[in-house]
Amino acid sequence: MTGSLGLERGLTHYGDPDFALYLRRSFARSMGYSSEMLSRPVIGIADSSSGFNNCHRHFPEMIEAVKRGVLAAGGLPLVFPTISLGEVFLSPTSLMFRNLMAMDIEEMIRAQPMDAVVLLCGCDKTVPAALMGALSAGRPATLLVAGPMLSARWRGERLGACTDCRRFWAKFRAGELASDEIAEVESHLATTAGTCAVMGTASTMASLVEALGMILPGTAAIPAVHADRLRAAEASGAAAMALAGSGLTPERIVTREAVENALRTLLAIGGSTNAVIHLTAIAGRAGIDLSLDRLNELSEETPVLVDLKPTGAHYMEDLFAAGGLGAVLRELKPLLHLDCLTVAGDTLGERLAAPAEPVDRAVIRPLAEPFQEKGGLVALFGSLAPKGAIFKRSAADPRLFEKEGRAVVFSSLEDLSARIDDPELEVSPEDFLVLQNAGPASPAAMPEAGYLPIPQKLARGGVRDMVRISDARMSGTAYGSIVLHVTPDAASGGPIGRVRTGDKIRLSVKERRLDLLVSPEDLARREWAPPPMPPRGYARLYRQEILQADRGCDFNFLRRTPLPEE
Ligand code: FES
Repeated sequence: MTGSLGLERGLTHYGDPDFALYLRRSFARSMGYSSEMLSRPVIGIADSSSGFNNCHRHFPEMIEAVKRGVLAAGGLPLVFPTISLGEVFLSPTSLMFRNLMAMDIEEMIRAQPMDAVVLLCGCDKTVPAALMGALSAGRPATLLVAGPMLSARWRGERLGACTDCRRFWAKFRAGELASDEIAEVESHLATTAGTCAVMGTASTMASLVEALGMILPGTAAIPAVHADRLRAAEASGAAAMALAGSGLTPERIVTREAVENALRTLLAIGGSTNAVIHLTAIAGRAGIDLSLDRLNELSEETPVLVDLKPTGAHYMEDLFAAGGLGAVLRELKPLLHLDCLTVAGDTLGERLAAPAEPVDRAVIRPLAEPFQEKGGLVALFGSLAPKGAIFKRSAADPRLFEKEGRAVVFSSLEDLSARIDDPELEVSPEDFLVLQNAGPASPAAMPEAGYLPIPQKLARGGVRDMVRISDARMSGTAYGSIVLHVTPDAASGGPIGRVRTGDKIRLSVKERRLDLLVSPEDLARREWAPPPMPPRGYARLYRQEILQADRGCDFNFLRRTPLPEE
């Protein structure tokens, strides 16, 4: 445990280090610790639970298990709170606060005397925030994710947050479900602790941090309420003790090769579009540039291997029972960089060399017989998205992949909600719905609003999908022919802000193109103005520093290498 300093690390400045340590120990003694305990390596346990975060409500029990692991391995576990980001409780959107949470975690790891840290996280933004903060802090760390919720039943039908939330809401909007029925569904969608039950953003990010080597092998998919989750927590405490003083910091684990492994995994699991933003931001904290061109290259060579909602039929608990992420990584093995390190101290190759458990092929397909031949996500470029846009082809209708359509434009979220169900709205199923001013630089701060509802009059006529384009994001649990993250966004002067109803747009997934069929001269004549700068506080810092989606929506000054001013 060379390098473990325990409470002697980072003394408070009084001009007398011996006095500072004496004072720190005397105050620590007021918490009832013995001298023996206070001489141990210190393992911080970052607790992101909150009354505003249903997904993390089992953290008190998990924290007890982490402490058990630390104590048994000879360390002193000290819990500290962090910001919590409960996805549906935050306004305008949780993404706005991801960087704030990452800053909180980075600074508190660095400011407090800990030799290593276990970071509890789970709900969508908390996983990237924890890893971004840990990477920047540079102290040995392991993440520990919440694990997914279990699915439930309603009138015999299996359902779970949140793909089914959207499926039932769409039925309700189409008049296929009555008010009392949707109220019943509401109480059956999220019925246990843990993160959303499908391969949404939370489970995607959990899978990616396992592929990156930043959680213990085999722990991404363990359901939140399963006893194995507590065993994983205990083992994470012990792992943190092994990391303490080892010099194995997150930046030695999150290498370019590991990021590429994570990108492959994202494609193979048909994961959330949000993960492209988060992985780009994580890579940026490690000094690695992740390009959307590379995403396209890997997408051509990496098939979708899991049959999970929202692209398939199953839930996260089925993935766990089928063999977990380890079984997926084993299939991907020929495509992975195997010498990448994990927080367990071994390499990915050593991990995957262990004898394989039986795999349920209904959920995890072999590489040679995939669920879908190509990766779930592609990046599009063109005159409407000069710096890229994301399209989740695995969750879209292939009949809409090569298409030209008339734009029906909504200038903001407010405009969308005011007019989308207007019976007078001129719209046909062949049109492209376009939402502006919902990107990272907008006051809306890039909400998950890219899943534009089908106009009610079309939904009631049986239309279930149409092309929808925005600078917003989409929930990882959503599906449809949806083009997201159009960059630059409208609020920073991107072409999407100058589209007008009646313009023609051409989408070609085959050519990876998204083009606005309006001449540059005509486009330049159209008016555009940036939104007003917030007067104060974090909102102002956010607006001043937020980078576009192609840079992971991090703050420039938090990147390992800040970008030059444009
Ligand atoms: Fe927390 Fe979905 S709301 S993971």
